[in-house]
Amino acid sequence: MLRTHTCGELNESNIGKEAVLCGWVHRRRDHGKLIFIDLRDRYGMTQVTFYLKGSEKLLQADQLRSEFVVSVKGKIAKRPKGTENPKMPTGFIEIQVEDFQIINPSEVPPFEIGEEQDVSEEIKLAYRYLDLRNPLVLDKFILRHKICKFMRDVLDSEKFLEVETPVLTKSTPEGARDYLVPSRVSPGYFYALPQSPQLFKQILMVSGFDKYFQIAKCFRDEDLRADRQPEFTQLDIEMSFVEEDDIFTLVEKLLKKIFKELLDQDLSVPFERITYKEAIEKYKSDKPDLRKTEKNKFVWVVDFPLFTYNDEEKRWDSEHHPFTAPKEDDLKLIDSDDLSKVRARSYDLVLNGVEIGSGSIRIHNKDVQSKIFKIIGLGEDEIKKRFGFLLKAFQYGAPPHGGIALGLDRLIAIVTGSQSIRDVIAFPKTQRAVCPLTDAPSEVRGNQLKDLGIDVKKKEGGNV
Ligand code: AMO
Repeated sequence: MLRTHTCGELNESNIGKEAVLCGWVHRRRDHGKLIFIDLRDRYGMTQVTFYLKGSEKLLQADQLRSEFVVSVKGKIAKRPKGTENPKMPTGFIEIQVEDFQIINPSEVPPFEIGEEQDVSEEIKLAYRYLDLRNPLVLDKFILRHKICKFMRDVLDSEKFLEVETPVLTKSTPEGARDYLVPSRVSPGYFYALPQSPQLFKQILMVSGFDKYFQIAKCFRDEDLRADRQPEFTQLDIEMSFVEEDDIFTLVEKLLKKIFKELLDQDLSVPFERITYKEAIEKYKSDKPDLRKTEKNKFVWVVDFPLFTYNDEEKRWDSEHHPFTAPKEDDLKLIDSDDLSKVRARSYDLVLNGVEIGSGSIRIHNKDVQSKIFKIIGLGEDEIKKRFGFLLKAFQYGAPPHGGIALGLDRLIAIVTGSQSIRDVIAFPKTQRAVCPLTDAPSEVRGNQLKDLGIDVKKKEGGNV
C-alpha cells in the first residue's frame, strides 16, 4: 500500500504516531514559513503542514497546486489552540510533513472542486471526473450504492433471485423508440436494446423462478427531460402466484426499510391508494403530488384504463404495455365498442408528483394475450414475428404472475434532493442524448460500417 491511512480517519487518538497519506491537494494556504494544504480523498480531508525550515525538499512544497496528487509522510500532531475545526472529524489534528512526493501534477482545473460556481452543465459533464471529486456529488453515489446493496439484501432475504437478462435482444414495447444494434453476422437484421426486461422476467416466471429481481439497465430513445435519460436503471421485480396486494406489500416493506435504515425517516404504510379516475378528478393528474395535503411522501394510483385511443392512427393503444391484465370484472367489455371503460390491473407508485414505479398483474393466457395484441392493431403475422416466443411459452404452463419496476435514478434523485436524475448517474447524457465526456455518439470507421453492410449517406449539414 502507498498509504497507511486515508484522509478521513485520523483523530486525536493517533497523535504522536507517523502516517503516510495520499490524495489530492484541495486548497493551499501560505503563511510565510508555513504552507498548509488540505489533502483530500474519498474519505475526507486532512490538514497537512509544511514547516519550511532546513530541508531543501520541504521548500519544494511551494510547487504544490490544486488537484496535484501527492503522498505525504509525517507526524500526527495536535493542531495549535484556536486553529481546530470541530466540524471535521480530522479537525483536531494535522500531519507535520517530514517527506513528500508529487505523484502526479494537474493542469489548472476549469472549476474549483467543491465550490458552488456558475459553471455550465456541459463543462461539468465534459470534466465529469473532476465534478465527481466534489464530496457533495460523491455523497449521492455513496447513498446510491447503499440503497442498491440494501435492496439486494432485503430481496435476497425474501427469497428473490437476481437474474441478468439480455441487452442484445428484441424490441420490448414500453412506448418509446428502440435503440437498434446492427448484426454483423446477419446483415440487415438488428438487435434492439431492452426498453425494459419485461418479456424475459415474465418468461422466468414460466420457468418457475417464482421471485425475480434485477437492477437493470434500460434504453429508450425518447425526448429527454430532467427525469428522463436514454439509459437508466430500474429495480425490476416479478413474482408468481400473486395479486396486487402482494406487490404493494413487498414494495412498501422495501421502501419503509430503506427510508428508516438509510435516511432515518419513518414512512407510514400502507401507502395511500387512489384510483386513476379520482386522481384525475381531484388533482387533474395521474401523478398527484400529495405533499400539500396531510397525506403520505408516496401514493399508489390504481385502476388505470387498459387502453387509450390513438387519435392520429385511429386505433386503441395500451395505456401501459400490452402484457397488463384487464380487471376480471371488465373482461366482458373487451368485446364492446368503447374500450375506454376497460380497467387494467396496473398500478403506478407516485412520489412528490413523480412516477417512481409502475407495474401490473400480467396476462398469462395465450388467447387473452393474442386478443389484446389484435385490439392494439397487430396482425397475425406481426404478432407471431414479434411476440410468438411469448405466446409459445404461455402454452407450456404459465403461472399467474405480476410485478413492478421502480425507477432507481428517479427515487435516488428525490431522496438526495437533486434537481435532475443526471446528478445521480455517474456519466449521464445531456438533453440531446450526448455524452460531453466521450463525445458519444460519434462517427465510426468506414470498415466497421462495411462489415455491417451499412452505407451512411452524407447530406449537407450532417448525416442521414
Ligand atoms: P415503465 O415504463 O413505467 O414500466 O418504467 C418503470 C419506471 O422506470 C422509470 N423510467 C425512467 N427513468 C429514467 N429515464 C427514463 N427514460 C425512464 N423511463 C421510465 C420510471 C418508471 O416508473 N416493464 C414495466 C414495468 C412493469 O410493468 O413491471 C416498465 O418498464 O420511474
